[in-house]
Amino acid sequence: MTQEELKVRQFDSDPFGLRGFDFSVRVPEKSEIFDEGEARAYIEGCDYPESADDLLLALEVQRMFGQDSIGRIRILDAMCGPGRLGREFLGLGVQSVWFHDGDEIMTSHAKEEALKVLNDGQTINVITSPVESIPVPDNSFDLVICHNATHQMASIDRLGMVMREFLRITVPLGHIVIADYQRSTTPNFIRASEERLQFTRPEIVPLLIPSFTAAFSKGEFGSVVCSIPGIRKFLVTDAEPPTLTQKKWERVDADFVKGHIMDYGPISLRVIIQKEEL
Ligand SMILES: C[S@@+](CC[C@H](N)C(=O)[O-])C[C@H]1O[C@@H](n2cnc3c(N)ncnc32)[C@H](O)[C@@H]1O
Repeated sequence: MTQEELKVRQFDSDPFGLRGFDFSVRVPEKSEIFDEGEARAYIEGCDYPESADDLLLALEVQRMFGQDSIGRIRILDAMCGPGRLGREFLGLGVQSVWFHDGDEIMTSHAKEEALKVLNDGQTINVITSPVESIPVPDNSFDLVICHNATHQMASIDRLGMVMREFLRITVPLGHIVIADYQRSTTPNFIRASEERLQFTRPEIVPLLIPSFTAAFSKGEFGSVVCSIPGIRKFLVTDAEPPTLTQKKWERVDADFVKGHIMDYGPISLRVIIQKEEL
Protein backbone atom coordinates (compact mmCIF):
# COMPACT_ATOMS: atom_id res chain seq x y z
CA MET A 1 0.00 0.00 0.00
CA THR A 2 1.32 3.47 -0.84
CA GLN A 3 1.05 6.60 1.28
CA GLU A 4 -1.27 7.94 -1.42
CA GLU A 5 -3.70 5.02 -1.02
CA LEU A 6 -3.69 5.43 2.74
CA LYS A 7 -4.60 9.11 2.52
CA VAL A 8 -7.97 9.47 4.18
CA ARG A 9 -10.75 11.91 3.41
CA GLN A 10 -11.55 14.35 6.16
CA PHE A 11 -15.29 14.88 6.24
CA ASP A 12 -17.10 18.16 6.91
CA SER A 13 -20.35 16.25 7.08
CA ASP A 14 -21.30 13.28 9.28
CA PRO A 15 -21.10 10.43 6.72
CA PHE A 16 -21.51 7.58 9.21
CA GLY A 17 -23.84 9.26 11.70
CA LEU A 18 -21.28 9.12 14.49
CA ARG A 19 -21.08 12.81 15.40
CA GLY A 20 -24.39 13.14 17.18
CA PHE A 21 -23.73 10.07 19.29
CA ASP A 22 -22.84 10.47 22.96
CA PHE A 23 -19.87 8.12 23.31
CA SER A 24 -19.82 8.62 27.09
CA VAL A 25 -22.84 6.28 27.17
CA ARG A 26 -22.53 2.65 26.12
CA VAL A 27 -25.18 1.08 23.88
CA PRO A 28 -24.92 -2.73 24.06
CA GLU A 29 -25.22 -4.91 20.96
CA LYS A 30 -28.70 -6.41 20.46
CA SER A 31 -27.48 -9.82 21.68
CA GLU A 32 -24.24 -11.48 22.75
CA ILE A 33 -24.33 -14.54 20.50
CA PHE A 34 -25.20 -14.22 16.81
CA ASP A 35 -28.22 -15.95 15.33
CA GLU A 36 -27.52 -18.55 12.65
CA GLY A 37 -27.72 -16.09 9.75
CA GLU A 38 -25.42 -13.58 11.48
CA ALA A 39 -22.90 -16.29 12.36
CA ARG A 40 -22.71 -17.48 8.75
CA ALA A 41 -22.49 -13.88 7.49
CA TYR A 42 -19.68 -13.17 9.97
CA ILE A 43 -17.71 -16.21 8.82
CA GLU A 44 -18.22 -15.30 5.17
CA GLY A 45 -17.37 -11.63 5.67
CA CYS A 46 -14.40 -12.00 8.00
CA ASP A 47 -12.75 -15.36 7.36
CA TYR A 48 -11.17 -14.84 3.95
CA PRO A 49 -7.66 -16.07 3.14
CA GLU A 50 -5.98 -12.65 2.91
CA SER A 51 -7.38 -11.34 6.21
CA ALA A 52 -4.51 -9.95 8.29
CA ASP A 53 -6.04 -8.56 11.48
CA ASP A 54 -5.45 -11.72 13.51
CA LEU A 55 -1.93 -12.01 12.14
CA LEU A 56 -1.21 -8.53 13.53
CA LEU A 57 -2.48 -9.51 16.98
CA ALA A 58 -0.61 -12.84 16.97
CA LEU A 59 2.60 -10.94 16.17
CA GLU A 60 1.97 -8.56 19.08
CA VAL A 61 1.64 -11.55 21.38
CA GLN A 62 4.71 -13.22 19.92
CA ARG A 63 6.66 -10.08 20.78
CA MET A 64 5.24 -10.13 24.35
CA PHE A 65 6.28 -13.74 25.02
CA GLY A 66 9.38 -13.95 22.83
CA GLN A 67 9.76 -16.09 19.74
CA ASP A 68 11.17 -19.12 21.61
CA SER A 69 8.67 -19.38 24.43
CA ILE A 70 5.52 -18.77 22.38
CA GLY A 71 5.79 -22.28 20.90
CA ARG A 72 5.57 -23.88 24.35
CA ILE A 73 2.57 -22.07 25.82
CA ARG A 74 -1.01 -23.37 25.94
CA ILE A 75 -3.35 -20.80 24.44
CA LEU A 76 -7.11 -20.43 24.66
CA ASP A 77 -8.65 -18.35 21.84
CA ALA A 78 -11.75 -17.32 23.82
CA MET A 79 -14.91 -16.40 21.85
CA CYS A 80 -12.87 -17.37 18.82
CA GLY A 81 -15.61 -16.96 16.20
CA PRO A 82 -14.22 -18.49 12.98
CA GLY A 83 -10.92 -19.20 14.79
CA ARG A 84 -8.56 -17.15 12.65
CA LEU A 85 -6.47 -15.97 15.63
CA GLY A 86 -5.85 -19.52 16.85
CA ARG A 87 -4.83 -20.48 13.31
CA GLU A 88 -2.32 -17.63 13.21
CA PHE A 89 -0.81 -18.96 16.45
CA LEU A 90 -0.51 -22.41 14.87
CA GLY A 91 1.26 -20.71 11.96
CA LEU A 92 3.71 -19.16 14.46
CA GLY A 93 4.49 -22.64 15.84
CA VAL A 94 2.34 -22.73 19.01
CA GLN A 95 1.98 -26.39 20.03
CA SER A 96 -1.37 -26.32 21.84
CA VAL A 97 -4.29 -24.11 20.83
CA TRP A 98 -7.79 -24.38 22.26
CA PHE A 99 -10.71 -22.77 20.45
CA HIS A 100 -13.71 -21.62 22.47
CA ASP A 101 -17.03 -20.09 21.43
CA GLY A 102 -20.65 -20.27 22.56
CA ASP A 103 -21.86 -20.86 19.02
CA GLU A 104 -21.51 -24.30 17.51
CA ILE A 105 -21.45 -22.96 13.95
CA MET A 106 -18.31 -21.03 14.94
CA THR A 107 -16.56 -23.86 16.80
CA SER A 108 -17.24 -26.40 14.01
CA HIS A 109 -15.84 -23.97 11.45
CA ALA A 110 -12.84 -23.15 13.67
CA LYS A 111 -12.05 -26.86 14.10
CA GLU A 112 -12.41 -27.72 10.43
CA GLU A 113 -10.14 -24.87 9.32
CA ALA A 114 -7.54 -25.45 12.07
CA LEU A 115 -7.20 -29.13 11.12
CA LYS A 116 -6.16 -28.02 7.62
CA VAL A 117 -3.11 -26.12 8.94
CA LEU A 118 -1.96 -28.45 11.76
CA ASN A 119 1.68 -29.56 11.65
CA ASP A 120 3.31 -32.53 13.40
CA GLY A 121 3.35 -32.13 17.17
CA GLN A 122 0.62 -29.48 17.23
CA THR A 123 -2.71 -30.18 18.91
CA ILE A 124 -6.03 -28.39 18.95
CA ASN A 125 -9.07 -28.69 21.18
CA VAL A 126 -12.50 -27.15 20.80
CA ILE A 127 -14.95 -26.07 23.51
CA THR A 128 -18.51 -24.88 22.90
CA SER A 129 -19.88 -23.19 26.02
CA PRO A 130 -21.11 -19.91 27.46
CA VAL A 131 -18.07 -17.75 28.12
CA GLU A 132 -18.82 -17.29 31.82
CA SER A 133 -18.53 -21.05 32.46
CA ILE A 134 -15.81 -22.63 30.34
CA PRO A 135 -15.68 -26.32 31.27
CA VAL A 136 -11.97 -26.70 32.04
CA PRO A 137 -10.21 -26.97 35.43
CA ASP A 138 -8.69 -23.97 37.19
CA ASN A 139 -5.18 -23.00 36.02
CA SER A 140 -5.39 -24.57 32.55
CA PHE A 141 -3.84 -22.02 30.15
CA ASP A 142 -0.67 -19.94 29.97
CA LEU A 143 -2.53 -17.40 27.86
CA VAL A 144 -6.23 -16.67 27.51
CA ILE A 145 -6.72 -14.29 24.62
CA CYS A 146 -9.95 -12.73 23.44
CA HIS A 147 -10.11 -10.71 20.23
CA ASN A 148 -12.90 -8.42 19.19
CA ALA A 149 -15.54 -10.03 21.42
CA THR A 150 -15.75 -8.34 24.84
CA HIS A 151 -17.86 -5.57 23.25
CA GLN A 152 -20.55 -8.23 22.74
CA MET A 153 -21.11 -8.47 26.52
CA ALA A 154 -24.53 -7.22 27.55
CA SER A 155 -23.34 -5.20 30.55
CA ILE A 156 -20.34 -4.26 32.61
CA ASP A 157 -21.39 -6.87 35.19
CA ARG A 158 -21.27 -9.52 32.47
CA LEU A 159 -17.82 -8.26 31.50
CA GLY A 160 -16.72 -8.69 35.14
CA MET A 161 -18.08 -12.26 35.19
CA VAL A 162 -16.18 -13.10 32.01
CA MET A 163 -12.91 -11.59 33.22
CA ARG A 164 -13.17 -13.59 36.49
CA GLU A 165 -13.69 -16.78 34.46
CA PHE A 166 -10.65 -15.99 32.30
CA LEU A 167 -8.60 -15.49 35.47
CA ARG A 168 -9.80 -18.79 36.97
CA ILE A 169 -8.62 -20.82 33.98
CA THR A 170 -5.26 -19.00 33.61
CA VAL A 171 -2.23 -20.55 35.35
CA PRO A 172 -0.57 -18.60 38.19
CA LEU A 173 1.72 -15.98 36.59
CA GLY A 174 0.00 -16.68 33.24
CA HIS A 175 -1.60 -13.92 31.16
CA ILE A 176 -4.92 -12.71 29.81
CA VAL A 177 -4.91 -10.46 26.74
CA ILE A 178 -8.04 -8.61 25.64
CA ALA A 179 -7.91 -6.90 22.24
CA ASP A 180 -11.01 -4.99 21.22
CA TYR A 181 -12.40 -1.67 20.12
CA GLN A 182 -12.69 1.02 22.77
CA ARG A 183 -15.31 3.72 23.28
CA SER A 184 -13.88 7.12 23.99
CA THR A 185 -14.76 10.80 24.12
CA THR A 186 -11.30 12.04 23.08
CA PRO A 187 -11.23 14.41 20.05
CA ASN A 188 -9.25 11.92 17.94
CA PHE A 189 -11.72 9.12 18.46
CA ILE A 190 -14.44 10.19 16.00
CA ARG A 191 -11.88 11.07 13.33
CA ALA A 192 -10.13 7.69 13.72
CA SER A 193 -13.48 5.85 13.66
CA GLU A 194 -14.47 7.64 10.44
CA GLU A 195 -11.10 6.81 8.86
CA ARG A 196 -11.58 3.17 9.82
CA LEU A 197 -15.08 3.09 8.33
CA GLN A 198 -13.80 4.55 5.04
CA PHE A 199 -11.55 1.51 4.68
CA THR A 200 -14.20 -1.04 5.66
CA ARG A 201 -16.23 -3.16 3.25
CA PRO A 202 -19.58 -1.32 2.80
CA GLU A 203 -21.60 -4.36 3.90
CA ILE A 204 -19.63 -4.52 7.16
CA VAL A 205 -20.09 -0.81 8.06
CA PRO A 206 -23.57 -1.33 9.62
CA LEU A 207 -22.11 -4.14 11.75
CA LEU A 208 -19.00 -2.24 12.81
CA ILE A 209 -20.74 0.92 14.05
CA PRO A 210 -22.63 -1.01 16.79
CA SER A 211 -19.28 -2.50 17.88
CA PHE A 212 -17.92 1.04 18.34
CA THR A 213 -20.92 2.12 20.43
CA ALA A 214 -20.95 -1.13 22.46
CA ALA A 215 -17.22 -1.19 23.16
CA PHE A 216 -16.07 -0.64 26.75
CA SER A 217 -13.87 2.34 27.52
CA LYS A 218 -10.42 2.04 29.08
CA GLY A 219 -11.92 3.44 32.31
CA GLU A 220 -14.64 0.78 32.37
CA PHE A 221 -12.08 -1.98 31.83
CA GLY A 222 -9.88 -0.47 34.54
CA SER A 223 -12.73 -0.47 37.07
CA VAL A 224 -13.65 -4.08 36.27
CA VAL A 225 -10.07 -5.31 36.53
CA CYS A 226 -9.50 -3.42 39.81
CA SER A 227 -12.53 -5.14 41.34
CA ILE A 228 -11.17 -8.67 40.72
CA PRO A 229 -8.91 -10.28 43.33
CA GLY A 230 -5.98 -12.47 42.25
CA ILE A 231 -4.33 -10.17 39.71
CA ARG A 232 -0.56 -9.55 40.07
CA LYS A 233 -0.39 -6.67 37.60
CA PHE A 234 -2.30 -5.24 34.69
CA LEU A 235 -2.19 -2.65 31.93
CA VAL A 236 -5.11 -1.02 30.07
CA THR A 237 -3.79 0.91 27.10
CA ASP A 238 -4.37 2.07 23.51
CA ALA A 239 -3.37 -0.62 21.02
CA GLU A 240 -0.01 -0.16 19.26
CA PRO A 241 0.70 -1.85 15.92
CA PRO A 242 3.42 -4.52 15.88
CA THR A 243 6.65 -4.04 13.95
CA LEU A 244 6.46 -5.94 10.66
CA THR A 245 9.19 -7.63 8.68
CA GLN A 246 9.08 -7.08 4.90
CA LYS A 247 7.52 -10.53 4.43
CA LYS A 248 4.81 -9.95 7.02
CA TRP A 249 4.14 -6.49 5.61
CA GLU A 250 3.51 -8.09 2.20
CA ARG A 251 0.90 -10.33 3.81
CA VAL A 252 -0.76 -7.40 5.54
CA ASP A 253 -0.70 -5.43 2.30
CA ALA A 254 -2.47 -8.26 0.47
CA ASP A 255 -5.51 -7.80 2.74
CA PHE A 256 -7.94 -5.70 0.70
CA VAL A 257 -9.62 -4.47 3.93
CA LYS A 258 -7.10 -1.73 4.64
CA GLY A 259 -9.08 -0.77 7.73
CA HIS A 260 -7.44 -3.64 9.62
CA ILE A 261 -4.20 -1.76 9.89
CA MET A 262 -6.09 1.19 11.38
CA ASP A 263 -7.38 -0.79 14.35
CA TYR A 264 -4.92 0.91 16.68
CA GLY A 265 -4.48 4.27 18.38
CA PRO A 266 -7.65 5.86 19.67
CA ILE A 267 -10.13 3.20 18.54
CA SER A 268 -8.69 -0.03 19.95
CA LEU A 269 -7.43 -1.07 23.37
CA ARG A 270 -5.39 -3.80 24.95
CA VAL A 271 -5.93 -5.14 28.45
CA ILE A 272 -2.98 -7.22 29.60
CA ILE A 273 -3.29 -9.03 32.91
CA GLN A 274 -0.92 -11.26 34.82
CA LYS A 275 -2.40 -13.63 37.39
CA GLU A 276 -0.78 -13.67 40.82
CA GLU A 277 1.40 -16.52 42.10
CA LEU A 278 -0.27 -19.36 44.02
C1 LIG B 1 -17.54 -10.38 17.01
S1 LIG B 1 -17.29 -12.09 17.15
C2 LIG B 1 -15.53 -12.15 17.27
C3 LIG B 1 -14.98 -13.47 16.90
C4 LIG B 1 -13.46 -13.57 16.80
N1 LIG B 1 -12.81 -13.49 18.09
C5 LIG B 1 -12.91 -12.58 15.83
O1 LIG B 1 -12.06 -11.76 16.22
O2 LIG B 1 -13.30 -12.63 14.67
C6 LIG B 1 -17.79 -12.43 18.81
C7 LIG B 1 -17.86 -13.93 19.14
O3 LIG B 1 -18.16 -14.05 20.54
C8 LIG B 1 -19.04 -15.14 20.72
N2 LIG B 1 -19.81 -14.88 21.95
C9 LIG B 1 -20.51 -13.75 22.25
N3 LIG B 1 -21.10 -13.86 23.45
C10 LIG B 1 -20.77 -15.08 23.91
C11 LIG B 1 -21.09 -15.77 25.12
N4 LIG B 1 -21.86 -15.21 26.05
N5 LIG B 1 -20.58 -17.01 25.30
C12 LIG B 1 -19.79 -17.57 24.35
N6 LIG B 1 -19.45 -16.97 23.19
C13 LIG B 1 -19.94 -15.73 22.97
C14 LIG B 1 -19.93 -15.11 19.48
O4 LIG B 1 -20.53 -16.38 19.26
C15 LIG B 1 -18.96 -14.69 18.39
O5 LIG B 1 -18.41 -15.80 17.74
